[in-house]
Formats: sequence, structure tokens, C-alpha cells
Amino acid sequence: MTRKILVTAALPYANGHIHLGHLVEYIQTDIWVRFQKLRGNLCAFLCADDTHGTAIMMRARQEGRSEDALIADMRDAHLRDFTRFDVAFDNYGSTNSPENLALCGEIWSSLRHAGLVVEEDVTQLFDVEAGTFLADRFVKGICPKCGSADQYGDNCDKCGATYSPSDLKNPVSTLSGSIPELRSAKHLFVRIETLHDFLNEWTQDGEHLQPEVANYLKGHFLQDPLRDWDVSRPAPYFGFPIPDSPGNYWYVWFDAPIGYMASLAEWCQRHGESFDDWWPRGADAETRGAEIHHFIGKDITYFHTLFWPAMLKAAGFKLPRQVHIHGFLTVDGEKMSKSKGTFVRASTYVKHLDPAFLRYFYASKLSAKLDDLDMNLDEFADKVNSDLVGKVVNLASRSARFVQPTGLSPIYPEDGGLFAQAAAEGEAIASAYDHLDYNTAMRLVMGLADRANKYIDEQAPWTLKKDPSQAGRLRDICTVTLNLFRQLAVYLAPVLPRLAEQAGELLHSPIRHWSDAQTPLAGTPVGEFQHMLKRVDKAQVLKMIEESREEAPGQATLASAPGATTSPPATDGPEALAAEPLAATCTFDDFAKVDMRVARVVAAEDLAESNKLLRLTLSLGGDDRRNVFAGIKGVYEPASLVGRLVILCANLAPRKMKFGVSEGMVLAAGPGGKDIFILAPDSGAVPGQRVH
Ligand code: 2FM
Ligand code: ZN
Repeated sequence: MTRKILVTAALPYANGHIHLGHLVEYIQTDIWVRFQKLRGNLCAFLCADDTHGTAIMMRARQEGRSEDALIADMRDAHLRDFTRFDVAFDNYGSTNSPENLALCGEIWSSLRHAGLVVEEDVTQLFDVEAGTFLADRFVKGICPKCGSADQYGDNCDKCGATYSPSDLKNPVSTLSGSIPELRSAKHLFVRIETLHDFLNEWTQDGEHLQPEVANYLKGHFLQDPLRDWDVSRPAPYFGFPIPDSPGNYWYVWFDAPIGYMASLAEWCQRHGESFDDWWPRGADAETRGAEIHHFIGKDITYFHTLFWPAMLKAAGFKLPRQVHIHGFLTVDGEKMSKSKGTFVRASTYVKHLDPAFLRYFYASKLSAKLDDLDMNLDEFADKVNSDLVGKVVNLASRSARFVQPTGLSPIYPEDGGLFAQAAAEGEAIASAYDHLDYNTAMRLVMGLADRANKYIDEQAPWTLKKDPSQAGRLRDICTVTLNLFRQLAVYLAPVLPRLAEQAGELLHSPIRHWSDAQTPLAGTPVGEFQHMLKRVDKAQVLKMIEESREEAPGQATLASAPGATTSPPATDGPEALAAEPLAATCTFDDFAKVDMRVARVVAAEDLAESNKLLRLTLSLGGDDRRNVFAGIKGVYEPASLVGRLVILCANLAPRKMKFGVSEGMVLAAGPGGKDIFILAPDSGAVPGQRVH
């Protein structure tokens, strides 16, 4: 029976670029959607940019532009990245859309009518200079428990204590560096405790969540009364104003999941579909509409397994069939790290490596569990080379040219049962995909590839080429090999859509359905073999890491304005997820440590191997010369810099880079990209002078 399935992946924040960590989820979900479509199921894959919140408001302010301009640019960048990685959404919306505003209003009035909204006073730190209340992640101070300095407003990373920002000693706003004051404001809360019984049942019935998630919720939240959920933020806030509460806005996490529905509404409008046929509402909602599947990372479990079902339930909308939760990406066994260059943006990856490699590697590692996925860089290269190039593409490259002139044999030849065996495994592979057990699916497919390779190695068609009396046998062997290759291409199509397309072109028979693996082709033409996948070049992997290291803020030798940074990996806690640290504060003592000097550029050289860096030789007067790498390639012509005075952070610890040791940092301003402006002292300053 054809299934009707609505699939969502978490909406990426509009304040950061897509990186390899995000791609675990988008690739996992895209594979599942492609698989469902290949099986003939009706499937809509929806996503959107998550655009609201303080972090975006502050970033727009810092960059001196509107939030709308910021989110429009980020949307373009996100869509470019998704397209390059073959993540094919059926609709990509925005939480800042009229559809979302309307749906938020509908759900809100249901919550109001059900008596679930309550008003409470909240006392929070307020940054008078920035004119805004401070979310936990925008405050730093001394831990009230252990006394450690430089701790965020919600928890201490030294002793693990959790507290409220007003408990921090000597709090400082990370937005302006000013000392915040306590102010009180009315907030609106959703009393989800009212839905405790429902949530107990829904999370624990074994139907909707992985068992480890159900246990986590039971152990951490459901044993106690559920705390009211604060869903409003006072102005100024970038978001939707709450219609019946002037001066207040819906918190970003209220409107974000509703963005799934808004994206569906857009898709329905474009395709003449009825929203209610997909995401129904009302007493019979559970018996109608699509199966709803959300894919998310483990850091946002709470929102999707407690708040979201509670909101849907209260508003009478159909509930998710399943929330599928995955772990984080680690690289070489460690958290992604900007300084190590393992925090790789999607756009950096594609400059060096084929996205198909990553899709396959992730598939080979993913299961339905919440375990983190480790990308060991050597294993990545070896696996792609040995499996995709060595076992799959190899079958076509070693056989196609022999039958290009004749086409496939008119009748599918005897193959010792190989084709039938692989056809029979189709259901086991399908079941593994359906259950998100992609590593099992890939293992089964590679088992089939091994058998096919054994066949071609034994038959060695290349030895028959010169003997005209063996022409029939040669054609038969290649017919078998190409059919076995095509079966693999069908089974890998959800992971490697381009390979499936190429296989379809080569054999003049497009792959459209999972059942294409059940019947061999015979008597059909064979096209010219075109290059399919290159080997992974380990040198390219290293270049990608080096470039990511160069991009890392605070690691390159050029200071850039806050806001030109990339998002950090998400940490736990709602505000942490919404916020990108902007400028951390430093104390006067910290600042006094920085030795800034006037320096003269005596030489500037282009580094051919680097996309970003120029090598500068700076004079601080006398014999004091420094070699500094500055990320201004393409911004300044090297020759135009020679003779100029710059400001140098002269006591930065020397840093070993690929091209040599960097002995300081040249100061500059600007949002980044081509807009970087070197700071210069007024005339009269001389090299070596201290900057006050
Ligand atoms: O964690 C995040 O990146 C959020 N932007 C995900 C939102 S998912 C949904 F609720 F919208
Ligand atoms: Zn502490």
C-alpha cells in the first residue's frame, strides 16, 4: 500500500552556515525521503530557515543591516549548500513567513482557549546599553557555587552547577561589556503540566520514540511536574509580536516547529494540495492525513518530544508518527574543533571533495541509534575508495566499453544465480533503509558488490577481448556484470542519486523504482562509459582541514569584526541553541596583557597554496622583524601594503601554520569577506611605538 509521508529535518538557524555536523541530519533525512519515493510512497520533504531570536537581532545590529537582509543572505547560502549535497527539499520555507505568522496565531488561540497560557513576572538581567534583556548565554560572571570566573549565565562548565543568571557574581553582558541590572517583566507561559498524562502515554508507548529517548524523558522530566514553559520575550526581539500581549514576542522556539507546518502550507499552495489532507486537525485527525516524521539531533529532544506534541495536542492537530533522533558528529574521535580545522563548512568541503563521498560515508556509519558518528579522516578516504571506486564503479568501468558497440546480450545469460540472489536481498536492504539502519543497508550492498567483483575477476572479460571466437561470451559476461552494477546503483540510489542517474544513462534505462533491481536488462544499448567517481585524494582532505583552520576566527592572523564568525557547535540548553556568542568580554587585566605596536610592512607576498593568506614581514623598528600571516588575500594587493603602517598584536603566542610560524596578528575591522579594513595609526606614529 502506498504510504503518504510528511518528513521534516530541523530548521537551521539563519545565523550560521551549514557545516558537516548539520549535514549528518540533512543527509540522513534526504536518504530516507529518496528511499520512500523510490519505493513509490508519496512523500513531502519540508524544511525552512529558523530566523527569529536575539542572536539574529544582535548580529544584524552589529553588521549594520536589517534582520531581513541578513536572513535573506543566509537563506541563499543554506540553499546553495543543500543543493550541492543533493539534499532535495520539496519546500524550503522561512519561519519569518506570513504562513507561519497565521499558524502561530491559530495555535496560540487554541492554547488560550484551553486555558493553558498563564502570566508570570520574570526578573532577568537587562543590558541598559544594548537595550535588551539578556538570555542566559549573553551573560558571563563568577560561578555562585565554585567561584570560577568567566561562566555563562545558566551553568558552570567547571563544577557543573546550574543556576539562574541573576545568581552569577559580577555579571557582565557579553553584548556590550556593561554591567547588567535586574529588571522585571511579564512573560507568558504554557502550562504543559496540564498535558502530563498525555505526554506520559505518548512518549512511553513505544510507538513514537527510540527506547533510549523514552527512558531519558522518563528519568529527567516526566517523574516530576513539568515546569511552565516561557514562550514570550519582551521587546526588542526579532520575531512575531504576540497579538494579545502588546510589547511581547513569541520566543523563537515557539514559532520554529510551527515553521514545519508553514513550510507544508507553502508546498500545498504550490501543488494544489489540501493542508488538511496532510496535517489534519480535529477529533478524527489521528485517522487521517500523512504519517508525520521529524528528524532531529539529540540536543533538541526536549522541544520535539515534550513541547511540540503538547502544543499539537492542545491545538487538536495530528501528532508525529515518529521523532527520529541522531547523535552528533565527531571528527577523528573528537568534537569538531575550529582550531584543529575539523569544523568544516559545507561550502569549504565542496571546494575539495565530492559531496557523494560524504553521503556514502555517513550512510555507512548511520544507524537508528543516538550514538555519535565519528568521521575518522583516514577511514573516510579508505572506505570511499575501496567501496565506491574499488567495488561499485569498477564493475562498470571494467565492462561497459566491451559491450558499447553491441549492447547487452539479447537474453539475460546464465550467471550462477547472482542476479536472482541480489534481487532476493532487495527486501532486506529496503527494511534496513526504512528502519534507518543505513550501515546495515550499506553492508548488505557491499556484500553483493563483493560477489559481483568475484565474478568479474574470475571471468576476466579483458582476456577475451582479442579472441573473436569469444565475442559471445565476452558480451554475456559484460551483460551480467552491468546488470549486477545496475542492481547496486538501484540499492544505492537513495544515497548516491547521481550515480543512479549515471547508471541509467549508461544503460539507457533510468532508475525510477526500487523494483528496477528485480528484472535484468537484456538486448538494450550501452552508452559510452563516462567517469563516475574519482578516488578520494588524501591531500585534498588535508587541504580542506587547513582551509577550515584558516577560516577559524581567532586562529587566523587577522582580527575580524564579531559577526564574521561561524556558529559554534550547539551546546545544550535552549538559549545556547538560539545564541551565537558575539563578543566575549575581557577584564581590564586581560586587556592590559595585549601588547599592541605600530609596525611597518616591509614585504608582502602572495601564498599560492592558500586561499586566504598573505605573508607579511613587519618591522617594529631596529632589528625586530616579524613574520605574520594575514587573512587578506584578494582584499589587498601585496605590493600596495609595502611601506604602510599597521597595528600589530605583538605578544600573541607564535602559531605554527602550514606555511611557517606566525608571530603576531594584524588588526583590522569589517564584516569579513572582501570588506576587511586594516587599521592604521595616524601619520607621525613610528614602528615599535606602543598602542595605548
Ligand atoms: O537547533 C536548531 O538548529 C534549531 N534551529 C532547530 C529548530 S527545529 C524546529 F523546531 F524548528
Ligand atoms: Zn562552578
